[in-house]
Amino acid sequence: MKRVIAMLALAATMCGAVQAQKFEGIALTPQMGWNSWNKFACEINEELIRETADAMVEKGLAAAGYEYINLDDCWHAAERDADGFIQCDAERFPSGIKALADYVHERGLKLGIYSDAGRHTCGGRLGSFGHEYQDALQYARWGVDYLKYDWCETENINARGAYTLMRDALYAAGRPILFSMCEWGTDKPWEWAADVAHSWRTTGDIWCSFDQIYQHGTWQALSAMHILDLTADLRRYAGPGHWNDPDMLEVGNGMTQAEDRAHFTMWCMLSAPLILGNDIRTVSDQTLEILLNERVIAIDQDPLGVQGYRFLRDGDLEVWLKPLQGGCWAFCLLNRGSEAREYTVDWAAFDWTDEEVSKLSTDFSTKIYDIENLWVEGKKSAEGTTRKPKSVVVDSHDVVLYRLSPKTK
Ligand code: GLA
Repeated sequence: MKRVIAMLALAATMCGAVQAQKFEGIALTPQMGWNSWNKFACEINEELIRETADAMVEKGLAAAGYEYINLDDCWHAAERDADGFIQCDAERFPSGIKALADYVHERGLKLGIYSDAGRHTCGGRLGSFGHEYQDALQYARWGVDYLKYDWCETENINARGAYTLMRDALYAAGRPILFSMCEWGTDKPWEWAADVAHSWRTTGDIWCSFDQIYQHGTWQALSAMHILDLTADLRRYAGPGHWNDPDMLEVGNGMTQAEDRAHFTMWCMLSAPLILGNDIRTVSDQTLEILLNERVIAIDQDPLGVQGYRFLRDGDLEVWLKPLQGGCWAFCLLNRGSEAREYTVDWAAFDWTDEEVSKLSTDFSTKIYDIENLWVEGKKSAEGTTRKPKSVVVDSHDVVLYRLSPKTK
């Protein structure tokens, strides 16, 4: 009898050992990279991807932390091969995905790919439905590092089941792949996906607008500010290895410099994945000033991984707080209005304990912080302390972002 029990225990342990899960140790801070969709939609080919990988390195973006080069929709061939394996479009990607992954890896970067839980992708290419294990195996063989998994043509499939199935397929294929869910927040993935994926989209698609919705007929594209509002209250669900994803960046795609700065800053305040959506081969110096601001990126990438909190809404002015490692805080003023706004920060009024996530307190009444203005360069960025109230002008559709560090003497 004892032997039977011992064997049953061994069997149970072995089952446990092979039990599927998501890959751990990935995206401990929000992922950073580039994706083809926002700028190029279906117009992609291997030359573009190679040039983008080169530009990522040449423009200093790789050194700043942008790591993934992600193919979005439309890389696929029209048919699977005779064995049912997914293939790339041989005209657009004549060298194949494996060669592309090698090229990207040689530059110290990682390659991402895109599929869909339904029979077809949103762009009408072949989806993974019924081929999940085969597709995961193919990506692993190609050396892919990231999968964005979309939600078109899924009819009445259960979302949790479909995403867990692909998670398990990726795990079985054995190559650590970041799993990025793109289900638009329809089934509230933040409530159930922390052990399924490394990030989940919180909303429908972004388009290049600060605060206007775009009607596409059957669906609407959302502005940066709409997405900010829809993601603001989900902070308790995010953390290292499992992030709210408010969609890819539109920085450099046509908003004003102030709007781009505000969009980028608020994504950092949200601890969002920073996935560039512009043409980085031809990126302007102005846009690079935003994308390469390492002190702002550090707000997004702070190891605590706590999403920021909207503390105040005063008409068009908002104040956001984000706890950072080492007792520091990000303090961000956002002006959504069309006029510049003057505001006096009375620090004691921002005394706050983050009961919901980090349990940390600002303690402005009892602690003094040094103020560093993160959008100002050099010595001028040191703007005194929180000992007395601070007057600030926030331009229209712009932000002022401070890093507050406990004063040591
Ligand atoms: C959906 C996704 C987008 C993009 C397109 C591709 O709309 O939400 O991010 O991947 O599909 O067709």
